[in-house]
Amino acid sequence: MQKSTQENKPIKFYNLSVEERRSWLAKEKQIEPALLDILSGENGLTAEQADHMIENVIGTFALPLGLAQNFIINGREVLIPMVIEEPSVVAGASFMAKLAAASGGFTAHTTTPEMIAQIQVLDTAEIQTARFKLLENREKLLEMAATVDPVLQKLGGGPRDLQVRLIEDSPIGSFLVIHLIFDVRDAMGANAVNTAAERLAPEIEAISGGRVHLRILSNLADRRLARARATFTLEQLAFGEYSGEEVRDGIIEAWAFAASDPYRAATHNKGIMNGIDPVVIATGNDWRAVEAGAHAYAARSGKYTSLTTWAKDEKGNLVGTLEMPMTVGIVGGATRVHPAAKAALQLMNVKTASDLAEIIVSVGLAQNLAALRALATEGIQRGHMTLHARQVAIAAGAEGEEITKLAVKLASEKNVRIDRASEILANWRKQ
Ligand code: MEV
Repeated sequence: MQKSTQENKPIKFYNLSVEERRSWLAKEKQIEPALLDILSGENGLTAEQADHMIENVIGTFALPLGLAQNFIINGREVLIPMVIEEPSVVAGASFMAKLAAASGGFTAHTTTPEMIAQIQVLDTAEIQTARFKLLENREKLLEMAATVDPVLQKLGGGPRDLQVRLIEDSPIGSFLVIHLIFDVRDAMGANAVNTAAERLAPEIEAISGGRVHLRILSNLADRRLARARATFTLEQLAFGEYSGEEVRDGIIEAWAFAASDPYRAATHNKGIMNGIDPVVIATGNDWRAVEAGAHAYAARSGKYTSLTTWAKDEKGNLVGTLEMPMTVGIVGGATRVHPAAKAALQLMNVKTASDLAEIIVSVGLAQNLAALRALATEGIQRGHMTLHARQVAIAAGAEGEEITKLAVKLASEKNVRIDRASEILANWRKQ
């Protein structure tokens, strides 16, 4: 709930029209009109700009951009842009953020932004000797890697370590894999580490006597983690006929299912990614890289499991945590080319890639709770249906005021189907 200074009575952001929301943000949150203009989509990415991003461009593709509300992350209030086509996600995150805010919001942090470049070394004469020679030349190789990106080096980034792994019993026998650990600071880092890996290849061949094959980053970025934690009181959790204890225990039971069963964990983690991806996309980051990292990390023990944990603390509150790789940047790539991505970063007042990663995992944790809370109580369909009904109404051809009217009718009939929507619409129009 937000305060309107104009009428001095609470207003609900989601009840406003799109135009009213923009005016409210300009007035109440002092968001620059130019920023809102870009985020409105009308002055977002032009076809000409898009043509410089990928190949064979014939246009651009729009998706809804919603603002998640009520997020307090490390004591700071943040308005979070989310780009997503699925109803209920922005509302779910905002509502859980409001519950978390009652206990101070989300506490989030990141590890050093270290990426891993992998260099595959094949055909060494004697594999252990080659491994030792590479390790003996660790310093020299790191020094070489440091010259690859002087700008990054100046900003305090650069190579940090070089490890040599022995892969045994692969379908082609044994080979070596070098892990070049690279601090990429505020970049996503793919370009920096891939360039370094390619640059080191000839020296690695000379030292090892082998043949360098692949040189590419690993998306299992387990040295670049982001973590978020939040507490929810029983008072905040209780709703309708459900007591706080019932909701809390139901959520823990739901989490235990995901923690123990990969079939459930896949859906549970999909719910987390419902919160993660929209912010990754809104900021022009590579959501496939984040997705790949998330699922590989969830399977790191050899068994695919939940990325979150949910438990009861000593006071009986519900506590949630999320830990996962977060390979996002705020410099380079689409983050600096796409006008809406730049505006999204500005809107969140993000100063470092770590700031952004902390925001993203907080949304992921909130989103997971939104799904578990619904699943553990009334099910997700009730909340989903009204919003889904709007999409069905539009698909059936409803326009203007017809959309909400038809959506409400479909939801009240508990029959959200396109054939029924077309039938009702046809009847209305006949009258
Ligand atoms: C739907 O997009 C996401 C959920 O399936 C997540 C979950 O089951 O935890 C509701």
